[in-house]
Amino acid sequence: MNTEVTLSGITLSNPIIPASGTFGYGKEFSDLYDLNILGAISFKGTTREERFGNPLPRIAECPMGLINSVGLQNPGVEAVINKELPELAKHYHKPLIANISGFSIEEYTYCAERLDKQDQVSLLEVNVSCPNVHNGGMAYGVSPDSVYDVTKAVKAVTTKPIYIKLSPNVTDISEIAKACEAGGADGLSLINTLLGMRIDTKRRSCVIANKMGGFSGPAVFPVALRMVYQVAQSTHLPIIGIGGVSSTNDVIEMMMAGASAVQIGSANLINPYICKEIIEELPQKMAELDITKLSDIIGVAL
Ligand code: SIN
Repeated sequence: MNTEVTLSGITLSNPIIPASGTFGYGKEFSDLYDLNILGAISFKGTTREERFGNPLPRIAECPMGLINSVGLQNPGVEAVINKELPELAKHYHKPLIANISGFSIEEYTYCAERLDKQDQVSLLEVNVSCPNVHNGGMAYGVSPDSVYDVTKAVKAVTTKPIYIKLSPNVTDISEIAKACEAGGADGLSLINTLLGMRIDTKRRSCVIANKMGGFSGPAVFPVALRMVYQVAQSTHLPIIGIGGVSSTNDVIEMMMAGASAVQIGSANLINPYICKEIIEELPQKMAELDITKLSDIIGVAL
């Protein structure tokens, strides 16, 4: 069975990537299993400065998913380069995706330039879709003009492939995807979380301190799949499919809808072994479905 896939010339031994924000910078998971079985890792969204994130509570449980309002908590790009990457290098030597976010185009380009210089980093994932911060994150990802500007600016300062991480909180995700392509993106990651909220009926107020947050988990899978399918038809860019993926069958569906690789997010929070289990189950699932080369199924349902 051949489970290899490629993203802009980077070979992944399989399409399974833990999603940004659900796997830290990897080291915690290295106690659980050998991280080198993964296709790649996308690390926690990183900004120029250290961020403590949003006030608590910032998680709300929902049937088939959860809402988070973490607010891009991270140690800042210099600490990531000086502490997190050397620590990860002790456990992991496969492709690494640097997920970056920002509150201005200059912040995106600063982070991109710094991480572009790190040999460990294979690819940059530009998060223009975080719904939990004001005047940054998703603000850049919901208009074709601003997503074009960020893409063009980041592309100008990097030598590595850039994948723009798209928000589902838009009228037409294909228009946003096309703007990324026009701006020089090498690929797309989609989807980020859907804006949602819960109310605590006893307290008569929002569960989450920041009121709203990003909804993820198995409930969003059909929405994510539909958007991957639409974007695969409207651009020529490779796609990393994200959104509620929690089984081997979900991975196959994402790939048939047009994804070249797949990120697993919330499912890591429920079962920290989920990526390992899916990787181990893939060959059996491929045999069941008469697939000998996994990359052959990319976009077959289009
Ligand atoms: C967060 O840190 O708020 C989540 C990141 C994201 O949704 O992009």
